[in-house]
Amino acid sequence: MPLNLSDSLKLPCGAVLTNRLAKAAMTEGLADEMNRATERHVNLYRRWAKGGAGLLLTGNVQVDRTHLERPGNIAIDNNGGLEALRAMAKAGTCNGNHLWMQINHPGRQTPASVNPKPLAPSAVPITVAEAGCGDPVEMNEAQILDVIKRFVHTATVARDCGFTGVQIHSAHGYLMSQFLSPLSNHRRDAWGGSLENRARALLEIIRSTRKAVGNDFPIAVKLNSADFQKGGFTEDESMQVVRWLGEEGVDLLEISGGNYEQMNMVGHAEDQPGKKPVAESTRLREAYFLDYATKVRPMATMPLMITGGFTARQGMLDALNAGELDVVGLARPLSSDPELCRKLLTGETQAAPRPELAMVLDRAPLGPVDDRTYRLMGVWAEVAWSSMQMIRMGDGKDPDLNMSLLEALGAYDANERAAAEAYHKTR
Ligand SMILES: Cc1cc2nc3c(=O)[nH]c(=O)nc-3n(C[C@H](O)[C@H](O)[C@H](O)COP(=O)(O)O)c2cc1C
Repeated sequence: MPLNLSDSLKLPCGAVLTNRLAKAAMTEGLADEMNRATERHVNLYRRWAKGGAGLLLTGNVQVDRTHLERPGNIAIDNNGGLEALRAMAKAGTCNGNHLWMQINHPGRQTPASVNPKPLAPSAVPITVAEAGCGDPVEMNEAQILDVIKRFVHTATVARDCGFTGVQIHSAHGYLMSQFLSPLSNHRRDAWGGSLENRARALLEIIRSTRKAVGNDFPIAVKLNSADFQKGGFTEDESMQVVRWLGEEGVDLLEISGGNYEQMNMVGHAEDQPGKKPVAESTRLREAYFLDYATKVRPMATMPLMITGGFTARQGMLDALNAGELDVVGLARPLSSDPELCRKLLTGETQAAPRPELAMVLDRAPLGPVDDRTYRLMGVWAEVAWSSMQMIRMGDGKDPDLNMSLLEALGAYDANERAAAEAYHKTR
């Protein structure tokens, strides 16, 4: 019997996902100036829950208010807001679906507007100046142990507030991913050097979180297949980490890739605005990390979720039936159509809308920018476009599919500046 997107999935901890579609994490930027959840989160997650996905992952929630991925993040750091988290969890599970909190520390990828001297495994700044990140300071051991405790505390708060699972973010160049990569981790102590040492912080977090939340609570990890950088975290290393995560009883492994220096998480180079669109012939095997999925499958004892590039229903079914994945992760498509999962499950829709991919970022109004900067801005504009759609849904509106990339970029910039200003007034 072929598998269907509507089939349920039992996880190692015993929890059951009602279908094979998951909304992958997308940072919402909807928190208040104290980094607490708001009514806008409630609106957004209620809408997504009703949209039919078996699993919703929240945008990354920070374990430390001085280290945010952006100023509008939710953080759990003795800043109150537990009632708001409860309301968010209730709304986000209203359809019998799971809602898991993605937990993160951005490390050196903290914007300088939040913290000009963020903590990181080593004092190695990222090479993309345009990302506006702070100048990292090497953590001492007490600071590493403190971060581990904070992850565990945040997971416990998530469980107590009604989130039905957690996902530890160890991808995309944030702190756990920085520990894993020899390019950002130059330490010579027990937290750097060998892969075993570089993976120590992540494995400690999983082990301690399991002890704190119990055996029946889902713990997932988002991991890079690789960093796609010479001297970085490799595919072979990633596969070894997957083995170890299996031994720690991880319930779902989400595969992604890239970081701020290599934005592979949101697409092939040729997918980016201003470049030619993906050829029709590659559409059915469109997801970016499926080849890695095939390689990692034999050592992955837990179910696999692959995120990045899926749009076609048939492509999702093929990957599921080829045994390449157990759960299809969808992010940007759900910012255009929050009902998409229901439509894919019933067959009402054969492909996700990706209007932003067909748009080219208007270059003239940007002034004299070189090609590299223009390309980078194109990638960020697409992310900004999805972000602005989430803000609209948070305000109870529908997505605006006619919004231009330029308009989105401008609105996003203004939003971030205002959020940073409000955040600093509280500190
Ligand atoms: C607006 C936006 C925000 C994102 N925020 C997060 C995040 O908070 N955590 C995370 O792990 N990935 C984040 N991602 C990456 C997505 O989860 C996903 O890996 C990526 O968009 C590829 O999937 P897609 O092709 O279905 O969009 C974000 C992506 C976008 C577009």
